[in-house]
Amino acid sequence: MKHLYAAALIGAGFAVPAGAQEIKIGYALAEDSHYGVAAKAFEQSIAGALGDQFGFRHFPSSGLGGEREVIEGLQLGTVEMTIVSTGTLSNFVPEVGVFDVPFLFSSLDHARSVLDGQIGQDMLAKFDDAGIHALAWGEQGFRHITNNRGPIAAPADTDGLKIRTMENPVHIAAFEALGAAPTPMAWPEVIGALQQGAIDGQENPLSVIVSAKLSEVQKYLTLDGHVYSPAVILVSPSLWGQLDDDQKAAFDQAAIDAVAAMRGYVDEVEASGVETLKSEGMEVNELSAEQKAAFRDALAEPYKAYEEQFGKDLMDSIQAAD
Ligand code: PAF
Repeated sequence: MKHLYAAALIGAGFAVPAGAQEIKIGYALAEDSHYGVAAKAFEQSIAGALGDQFGFRHFPSSGLGGEREVIEGLQLGTVEMTIVSTGTLSNFVPEVGVFDVPFLFSSLDHARSVLDGQIGQDMLAKFDDAGIHALAWGEQGFRHITNNRGPIAAPADTDGLKIRTMENPVHIAAFEALGAAPTPMAWPEVIGALQQGAIDGQENPLSVIVSAKLSEVQKYLTLDGHVYSPAVILVSPSLWGQLDDDQKAAFDQAAIDAVAAMRGYVDEVEASGVETLKSEGMEVNELSAEQKAAFRDALAEPYKAYEEQFGKDLMDSIQAAD
């Protein structure tokens, strides 16, 4: 509660120019995270194109609540913009869950080209039916496991591991199949739960592990890259519906600029993050290709269910894309 109040004050601290239309933009991470950097790039791009027609009030660090609540705020029109992971998105647009399938993307370049291509753009078009307008795909990077129990080198090492997952059925099914004890939880609860030992671990990309300083509450990092983690820039339909064509074009361009900033951040943290975390005391192990294959093989059962739910053809064409 104290944390939400502090974040709300940060939001209130941003000056919105007199006469400008206020845009409240909420995101789960700090201002110096990939989300914060993208939100700033978005704001600057809009200021460059439209002067002070709009003023942005940032609510970093879950200052407007968890990602689910913020998305609901967009639907209601009480929040104008957000940058979120696909964590809870499949509760709003179920088809998006295909991008959460473990080991589907082979590299950042592969994921970026699918999301920027026809498959990703067709997916963005589905958001309007859920009462949310999607501008562009950004990203967080590949997710890795952190925990306080010990290094993880094989699926058996996750046996009974109390691991926080996002409120995401695709991820939950995968961790259940590995034998772990997945505990879905909204992000604002996670650090406290790790501190209190209510959970052993969590999984997130380096962008989050570094920017949220998880090294303060987690000892072991396993670089398993079990799933790519897209992010998406969303606006409320009530804001989108009010914009004229020039303003819409400026918002679309601002989203492109924000994605470039977000991906630039991810590239940097992918290159330097492991060293940072080691210097902060984390013990790091990286899975070999064979070790990763053992995790992929352990997911045979959920994979059948993913193919049934999302379509084998779609999953095959994502994997075949370059
Ligand atoms: O783990 C999550 O819930 C997400 O990756 C986070 C940290 C909220 C960023 O979107």
